[in-house]
Amino acid sequence: MIYMLDTADIKAICKAVDLYPLAGVTTNPSIVAKENRPLKEILLDIRECIGPDRMLHAQVMAKDAETMLQEALALRSIDPEIIVKVPVTPQGIKAMKLIASEGILITATAILTPQQALMAAVAGAEFLAPYVNRLDNICSDGVAVAAEMVALIENYNLDAKVLGASFKNTQQVHQLALAGAHSVTIAPDVFDQLLVHPLTDSGVAGFVADWEGVYGADTNVLDVL
Ligand code: E4P
Repeated sequence: MIYMLDTADIKAICKAVDLYPLAGVTTNPSIVAKENRPLKEILLDIRECIGPDRMLHAQVMAKDAETMLQEALALRSIDPEIIVKVPVTPQGIKAMKLIASEGILITATAILTPQQALMAAVAGAEFLAPYVNRLDNICSDGVAVAAEMVALIENYNLDAKVLGASFKNTQQVHQLALAGAHSVTIAPDVFDQLLVHPLTDSGVAGFVADWEGVYGADTNVLDVL
């Protein structure tokens, strides 16, 4: 599983980089707007926090393919490794062909149907981001739709990876992992929840109490060997 964090909150990103096996950070225009500061500053701050080897995804905003390509090149001039997010509109698909031909990695975004994902993959997208919770919100089945994307990639032997997105709970993440999604991007609050279980907490508390009863408070293995 390739884990990514879906946020532009620098504090949350640095915390997740420190704790988790994080492969990258994804942003979108709403996430960036929430920070209410210059885009360049946000992207450079994220890069500083994640280091040179993790992925950073940022989205284009233009309505036509040629301008999307210019945006992609401009984003790349700020960060040469940036992965460019492009929505799966007709102009977006055209832009994917143009951007891919420049050798720039693409994440196809705002994907709600398997056919959008398939066309984006054929157009050259590296990652395909289905919006799981937004589908669940309209009484569709986000996990089932994303699972069909996984199947299509296998059917056609494509290189693209499904990047599950728009999660509101850990069950959605879990079901998508079972469906064979290659990667997920998760908001910090849901990411933290992936490790939560009260019996883990009480189990660890029990180990501490038993240990400290014999070896003393605030000791660890190094103190007693
Ligand atoms: C992914 O590409 C999107 O940025 C994101 O996951 C959308 O999530 P939301 O539905 O919580 O806005």
